[in-house]
Amino acid sequence: MILIAPSMLAADFLHLEKDVRMVNEHADLFHLDIMDGTFVPNISYGFPVVEAIASIAEKPLDVHLMIVHPEKYIERFARVGTRMLSFHLNATDKPAQALLHIRETGMKAGLVINPDMPVETLYPYLHLCDYIILMSVFAGFGGQRFIEDTYDRIRTLKAEIDRLGLDVKIEVDGGVCPDNARRLIDAGAEILVAGSAVFKAEDPAKVIAALR
Ligand code: DX5
Ligand code: ZN
Repeated sequence: MILIAPSMLAADFLHLEKDVRMVNEHADLFHLDIMDGTFVPNISYGFPVVEAIASIAEKPLDVHLMIVHPEKYIERFARVGTRMLSFHLNATDKPAQALLHIRETGMKAGLVINPDMPVETLYPYLHLCDYIILMSVFAGFGGQRFIEDTYDRIRTLKAEIDRLGLDVKIEVDGGVCPDNARRLIDAGAEILVAGSAVFKAEDPAKVIAALR
């Protein structure tokens, strides 16, 4: 099953409730981008916004940490009701420990890499992951252009996951839209994040349907 995860970074923050209800009704996950201005050159939002979304969310929260020392915040994200928690492989010295810790709290654990990191860097950790996020833009900003390399990267990673007989889902994040969704899914992606394609559209529900 393909899951569609609208990125709330592109939502209308003056009418956040409306956008949360739209996701409740039409999509599968809430993709929440947490940026600290250090790991990436941008700051997004923090716990007050996550908690507000969580208070009326009827779909699981998929939290994407773009912060240094992600291990410091695992418990806190678990407490606010996060279902899936991911961090960048190069954001910590102890990725294996952080993945185990995430799983211990009952959340699904994910690792993320930017487009310039070889997918092979993930291989030592695949058995500790429930999902992988392959960035199809450089993490930090919404609304960037999709990087075409991504299809090959998905195929390579998918082949390794299958070879190992693991159940690790591939999520793609950045510049996803109805035009590239089919190729992404054919390559092996199972979770599609879409920010601007969904929220900048006249009819977000229609775009979500098109992504499916
Ligand atoms: C980028 C974020 C993405 C972003 C996606 O750093 O991780 O989740 O919000 O936005 P679009 O779909 O507009 O590229
Ligand atoms: Zn993201």
